[in-house]
Amino acid sequence: MKFPCALIAIVAGLAATTAFAATPEELIAKNRCGRCHSAKTTVKAPSFASIAEKYKGQADASAKVAQMLKTGANEHDKVAASDAELKAVADFVLSSK
Ligand code: HEC
Repeated sequence: MKFPCALIAIVAGLAATTAFAATPEELIAKNRCGRCHSAKTTVKAPSFASIAEKYKGQADASAKVAQMLKTGANEHDKVAASDAELKAVADFVLSSK
């Protein structure tokens, strides 16, 4: 199986430094967002890069996306994580290029 080993290394490294809150990468891996999303390619769901493009220039984008992940708007999966973690996931998605 081709799995990006570099990504695992990065995630593992971050996990070691942040003992308390899960990193966005961990949450995205744990919640298997990759079943539907990928960073750059729109498969079942819009790529994170295209979502970032859609929200570009919107000041409240991060709050909106965090809220959407919390409540599971439009039948989207809900993500069980703290508000701070959801905000971090939102920022991560919105900073995708
Ligand atoms: C079962 C498939 C599926 C999974 C798993 C999934 N998504 Fe999605 N996601 C979608 C689809 C389909 C859309 C586009 C329709 C919509 O907005 O609901 C979407 C849209 C989004 C959007 C854009 C919403 C907007 O307002 O444009 C974000 C951000 C997002 N997903 C983040 C995530 C994150 C983070 C995870 C993992 C915690 C995740 N998704 C897991 C299917 C999925």
